[in-house]
Amino acid sequence: MSEHAVDRRDFIFRVGTGAGIAAIAYQASASLRSLVPNVSYDAPTTVKLGPVAEFPDGLKFLPDERLFVFREGNTFHAISAVCTHLGCTARAEALSSPETQQVGGKALRLTHRFQCPCHGSKYNGDGSNVSGPAPKPLAWYHLSLASDDGQLVADLAREVEHDFRLTV
Ligand code: FES
Repeated sequence: MSEHAVDRRDFIFRVGTGAGIAAIAYQASASLRSLVPNVSYDAPTTVKLGPVAEFPDGLKFLPDERLFVFREGNTFHAISAVCTHLGCTARAEALSSPETQQVGGKALRLTHRFQCPCHGSKYNGDGSNVSGPAPKPLAWYHLSLASDDGQLVADLAREVEHDFRLTV
């Protein structure tokens, strides 16, 4: 066999081997890449709640967000309806006569209190737990106005102190 034929066979063998290795590497990287999602499936933590004008004075309950939004004039605050015991949705009960209390060092007009239907936890109108198995107060969430359309926005990942008020 000529030296030329051996070189040629060796060359074809090397090209074939190289192509095989490249194909395997490509498949492996494609398989690994398929394990990493292109999008985040985390729920967004900020939600638009609607135009300010759609919130009457007093309480508006938003079932999708499980949120109580309170308005007093131009001031807003939001309290979670998620019971701190095992996560049932607490219900609001109107007080027979609203009362003003110092909450977080600021006066707050309390118009409701909350009760959990699952195991009977009770909360004051500021969300503080008063009886039942609930281990801590209902969360207060940060509110703001959307820069694009002025809607009320709640950040459900951002708990705030009980002195938080949004004034619009
Ligand atoms: S989940 Fe609310 S009291 Fe148990």
